[in-house]
Amino acid sequence: MKKVLVTGGAGFIGSHTCVELIAAGYVPVIVDDMRNSDDRILKGIEKIVQRKVVLHRIDCGIETELEKVFREEGPFFGAIHFAAYKSVNESVAEPVKYYANNIGSLVSLLNVSKRHNMNRLVFSSSCAVYGLATSLPVDEKAPATNANSPYGYTKVVCEQLLRDASHCDPDLRVVMLRYFNPVGAHPSALIGELPLGIPNNLVPYVMQTAAGLRNELTIYGSDYGTPDGTCQRDYLHVVDLAKAHVQALNFLNTASSERCEVFNLGTGRASSVKEVVDTFVRVTGAPVRSRMGPRRAGDVPSIFADASKAHKALGWSCAFDLADALRDAWAWQRTLDTDPVAASTP
Ligand code: UD1
Repeated sequence: MKKVLVTGGAGFIGSHTCVELIAAGYVPVIVDDMRNSDDRILKGIEKIVQRKVVLHRIDCGIETELEKVFREEGPFFGAIHFAAYKSVNESVAEPVKYYANNIGSLVSLLNVSKRHNMNRLVFSSSCAVYGLATSLPVDEKAPATNANSPYGYTKVVCEQLLRDASHCDPDLRVVMLRYFNPVGAHPSALIGELPLGIPNNLVPYVMQTAAGLRNELTIYGSDYGTPDGTCQRDYLHVVDLAKAHVQALNFLNTASSERCEVFNLGTGRASSVKEVVDTFVRVTGAPVRSRMGPRRAGDVPSIFADASKAHKALGWSCAFDLADALRDAWAWQRTLDTDPVAASTP
């Protein structure tokens, strides 16, 4: 039995990854203190996979607690480390909280993993490490040390920490996955994104506006040098992204000259904010009130992935497109429409 420790496994990407791990024959052991999730996500995973899933409700940044999980559940085949804060805005307002949590949890995991000879690690990184990319699409050779926010810098620091750790530990193998913009939900509509409070990210905001929980969407900037003036991003379906984690774990079990590898994960396609809204309306028929507003501080005009390295080395590719992702996100949103958590803030 190949047990995999999944920190932040009840989160948006973590929960979808647990489903794909089980489908691939791995046994996820979730560590999540549920500060950014809810019990219904766990129930949703269990309903999809038709079995119980183990959750340890602890903060993986507390080493003694994580140590207990390793003693009770180990040995682990590998670990996938999602547990981190991810709001760009919040990280600007509270940088210390971001550095402490995002770096602290990785340090804790590395320390405990070493004591237990757990040597395979998949790390959840972000295209935020590229900051303002000078050449598009972005590949992994682009400079990845000029993030635009403290959130992005926590990923830069964690990546460097992992490179240094793998450099001095010949047994440690690491894959760092740089996500572009994960969106969508499981096609069953049993799990999806659960933004607590007012969403910062585009797709959850579109969903809540269409659902009548928000008055209107503000499109941040219409004067960028892009075809329609709004920012472009590379939106990938969360199920495609989840599958990449399984392929990364498999990859860690193969011979490779590099002990620490990094892969971009994106569709390679740039979609503007306006295109996201228009596609959503087209595929769901649900109207979205929107207005053009000023630019948001820290936004880059355009970024999308060259993911050819992941295609070649991991055998990964996207099966879904933006329309699929928005349709699935909407189906999930509709299960939340009358939900007090989603509707709790104006
Ligand atoms: C950023 C990071 C990404 C990270 C994510 C985590 C970059 C390039 N990307 O994504 O790596 O994983 O945060 O949260 O740093 N928008 C609106 N109105 C809204 C909300 C968003 O117009 O109400 C626009 C934004 O200006 C942006 C696009 O939608 O152009 C996407 O925004 P968002 O969903 O917040 O993601 P990023 O900022 O691209």
